[in-house]
Amino acid sequence: MGEGVLIGLPDIFFERDGELWCEGVSLSRIGREVGTPCYVYSETGIRRRYDALRSAFTGVPCRIFYSAKANANLAILRLLRSLGAGVDVVSQGELFRARCAGFQGRDIVFGGVGKGAEELGAGLEAEILLFNVESEGELRRLSALGAERGARAPVAIRVNPGMAVDTHAYTQTAHYETKFGVAWEDVEDLYRLAFRLGSVDPLGIDFHLGSQILSPEPYRRALPRLVELAGRVARTGASLRYLDIGGGFGVPHDGGPELDLSAVAEAAGAAAKALDVEILLEPGRWLVAPAGVLLAGVLYAKRLGGRLYYVTDTGSNDLLRPSYYGAYHPIEAVRRGPATTAADIVGPVCETGDFLGRDRPMPALQEGDFLAVGFAGGYGFAMSSNYNARRRAAEVLVSADGYRVVRRRESLADLVALEEPCEAGP
Ligand code: LLP
Repeated sequence: MGEGVLIGLPDIFFERDGELWCEGVSLSRIGREVGTPCYVYSETGIRRRYDALRSAFTGVPCRIFYSAKANANLAILRLLRSLGAGVDVVSQGELFRARCAGFQGRDIVFGGVGKGAEELGAGLEAEILLFNVESEGELRRLSALGAERGARAPVAIRVNPGMAVDTHAYTQTAHYETKFGVAWEDVEDLYRLAFRLGSVDPLGIDFHLGSQILSPEPYRRALPRLVELAGRVARTGASLRYLDIGGGFGVPHDGGPELDLSAVAEAAGAAAKALDVEILLEPGRWLVAPAGVLLAGVLYAKRLGGRLYYVTDTGSNDLLRPSYYGAYHPIEAVRRGPATTAADIVGPVCETGDFLGRDRPMPALQEGDFLAVGFAGGYGFAMSSNYNARRRAAEVLVSADGYRVVRRRESLADLVALEEPCEAGP
């Protein structure tokens, strides 16, 4: 394995014969055969992550509901289903994708702060395991929809624990200056209301602390408080079966210390025991981010004001995280060589904030070379757009047998397919 190559799981992405590989396939082969930009995911990598998460929670009564928002490609959903995961969805679209991938109702939890009537109805039709409810209005609407159908909706109330958690402001969800969940002091009243409404069954309690959390400490702080609150909720008559602790398990992108999952598991195990409930986990990023990279093609090298820019064929339309959160993603040349210079890696999008990385040590690159942007298996393609009428990237899944394209690159015709007929055929 090459020195200093960190773009994801090290035994999945490594250096061989002077270039970068994903499992048994060189990234330059994928770049040549599929074209760029292209997301490349490793099946073995995702399997390993799933197994590692399961084993960190050994002894804790729990189920994993993969958070589809991180990467909802059907091949990824099917893979996680085959491993035994359920799925956490936040829209009718994600519910549809989950159903397309073969998930049954009992394998689905439905979260999200703004589920409309049609979406809630779709969840009822699918007979899902649990709705995570975030407001009194939603609880009332769900009960009314249940009554119309002669069905009872299984619910958990999502609690906003009113806690500051050390992560990017845009991925904090657990304090009152964010829109998420129900205020701590209103939670018991909502369970009482659930009983009065009649067509909802309060079966669980739920929270989510934020995303990219790299310390077990917020979980350790929140869980005993939740146990105390759930104890009070139980006195309203609710017999809780589930404690959904959300997702948020972080993945360092820079070789920094990993989240101590066993410490999270210990706190969750203690809570499960105290309440005699099953723990539901909703991890997204942890399972998929380090098992994927974004493959970019170098278009041009140019110097401007003393800076070297490598302009690539991918940017914030494909991977928004650097622009949106200032997120660091390692970027490595696929054809290896000693770093001789520092360069800004930028995209083709007409925005100053369209960059993948700044001041990155790089070997001298030629037009046509490939770059791999690391830790891009989660919140990469899922957050991509057609801005500047760019066609969204292809997605590739590498497995022990080789690789296959699991989503083709969009065509020009795809760009106009939903609009009035086009005069000039693309
Ligand atoms: N459960 C709930 C209720 C959530 O809101 C989220 C993420 C998850 C589970 C999964 O979180 P994870 O385990 O992936 O951290 N776009 C951002 C992340 C936003 C996450 C929103 N909610 C990013 O690229 O970092």
